[in-house]
Amino acid sequence: MLEQSAPEISSETILGASVPAAGKTVADVVAAARAVLDQRGVCLVRGFPTEPGKYLEFLRGFGKPLDNYASRSELADDDPHPQINRVKYKPPGQYTRKSVHYQEGELRPHSARSWRTPRPACFAMLMVDPGWRDTPEGQRGESLVLSWRHLFARLAARDGETFTRHFERLTTTPIQFAANNVREEYTDIPLCYPLPDAADAYDVGVRLKQDITEKLPDLKGEIDDFDAYTEAVDYLVTNAADPAFQAVFPMDSGDLLLIDNNRMAHGRRNIVGMRDDAINPRELWSVTVE
Ligand SMILES: [Fe+2]
Repeated sequence: MLEQSAPEISSETILGASVPAAGKTVADVVAAARAVLDQRGVCLVRGFPTEPGKYLEFLRGFGKPLDNYASRSELADDDPHPQINRVKYKPPGQYTRKSVHYQEGELRPHSARSWRTPRPACFAMLMVDPGWRDTPEGQRGESLVLSWRHLFARLAARDGETFTRHFERLTTTPIQFAANNVREEYTDIPLCYPLPDAADAYDVGVRLKQDITEKLPDLKGEIDDFDAYTEAVDYLVTNAADPAFQAVFPMDSGDLLLIDNNRMAHGRRNIVGMRDDAINPRELWSVTVE
């Protein structure tokens, strides 16, 4: 259960509440991380072993790790484990199907498996190799977390009626969209949906697809008052992309970030994929937990 007044989510508060894993059993790390996750919606574990078995043992403390994309798609299957997505830059030509996670560039705030029902409770990232960190700030693949409740509370205060109109539309319009690479069951709940243990009116779940803006035109016939809906989605996407609302920090090898996938979005800053002939070795293992 979240606190009544939401604790501030910033890079400082995330790093300040981090859980050290060194010298602890996985069960002890789960217990410590659970307390932080329940209170803040996000927990950073530091010094976690970069071993698939230990990582999944940890995640099973929070639910059922879902199969990775590759095992249910046509993406190249070189992942370290059936439930782990290896997020690593691949030069053009080295993947069979495009996934944004294999490319350079940033990932704007989004949700894990935004199309899926039931909504997966958690999302986890374990940094194995942080890759090049001597690139300029904002070009290091820094990780990004955004609290939807914080965003909505601040937008309500800033924009008043405009926020209320868009929020109303986002919470009441059913929408269904498919995954780019994954075949599974699709939900048709609104992009913003109620949570059983909501702390206030802005404490809703959000399922945002990384490329929702490009997908919307295909759904024109299925959405009421499409132009107003598009405006509401643009409002959500644009404000979520504003760095003022984001917690951004670089992850070291052994940093494990666990987030509430209903209440928080994740993303990253730009990655430089290649310099001369060298390939950025950055490697992160992501897992969605239901
Ligand atoms: Fe993602």
